Amino acid sequence: SQAELILAFESSCDETSVAVIKNGNEILSNIIATQINSHKRFGGVVPEVASRHHVEQITTVVDMALKEAGVDYDQLDAVAVTYGPGLVGALLIGVTAAKAIAFAHDLPLIPINHMAGHIYAARFVKPLQYPLLALVVSGGHTELVYMPAAGEFEIIGDTRDDAAGEAYDKIGRVLNIPYPAGKEVDRLAHLGQDTFHFPRAMAASDDLDFSFSGLKSAFINTVHHADQIGEQLSREDLAASFQAAVVDVLVEKTLHALQAYPVAQLVVAGGVAANQGLREALTAALATSAPAVELIVPPLRLCGDNAAMIGACAHIELAKKHFADERLNADPGLNF
Ligand code: KG4
Ligand code: ZN
Repeated sequence: SQAELILAFESSCDETSVAVIKNGNEILSNIIATQINSHKRFGGVVPEVASRHHVEQITTVVDMALKEAGVDYDQLDAVAVTYGPGLVGALLIGVTAAKAIAFAHDLPLIPINHMAGHIYAARFVKPLQYPLLALVVSGGHTELVYMPAAGEFEIIGDTRDDAAGEAYDKIGRVLNIPYPAGKEVDRLAHLGQDTFHFPRAMAASDDLDFSFSGLKSAFINTVHHADQIGEQLSREDLAASFQAAVVDVLVEKTLHALQAYPVAQLVVAGGVAANQGLREALTAALATSAPAVELIVPPLRLCGDNAAMIGACAHIELAKKHFADERLNADPGLNF
């Protein structure tokens, strides 16, 4: 057949997802079974609970993905799977399922880096032009990634402490917002003003690195101090002030990176790419940038963890015949 079909798996954290992707850029199905309600009461993802949910869900999710796509195993060209970074027990469920299907149906097995997958979610918006720059912002990572060519990644900036999403989740806890707090903090931020002027860490430094722990501490100290003296602070203004500090630094560093690495496209990827404040600020910053840089942000449903993005990335790896065999293992600390 002329259409290339990839069955893709994602199970690195708290979503069990399986997708069928046609020609690297068309989603025939993208089933996402989320476990968030099981983790909420613990204020974060509990690895043991995550693994157990993945085991329970994976077979059903595979069946649903194939059924929705109207595709049989014998039409598939390859099986792709996230093998890191992430929670080792969670990753192993996807890796084991993908291996079993690849082996049973004599299909190539394509190992995919979760963060590379996040970047390739942009492929569903439009064709990517290299070199490109990606701002990858998720619960576990905050990185500026330079891509000289398809499937090639160079980290040019990284966080020295917390990831951006992690900072959202931690300050959300102080505001009694259930995990994951990013979306709700974003909503509150749009109802408030930046009245607290929290520190913009590293904004003035020459490198392309980030730091969010100082901002997190400043936020927590402000709230605790107000609690002690019985003062009621505006949740909206707190959220707006926190978000303004995060977004300022992300935009500032991204503009620095664009100066040092001239590219035609900027991809924003990962869970925090769903942030409205960040989307608006980057759009505004790039509207006046010279030379022109095209901003590509995946649709909201493809910013969080999903298998469609893994299938899009696997299309590149399939062309390069970057295959794994039955010895493929999960690699929780995998880097680019
Ligand atoms: O990429 P992702 O789904 O999982 C990881 O690979 O980490 O990212 C999840 C992170 C969480 O920290 C969540 O709070 C954050 O993305 N997030 C947001 C928003 N939506 C999700 N952060 C800020 N604003 C949002 N709208
Ligand atoms: Zn992710």
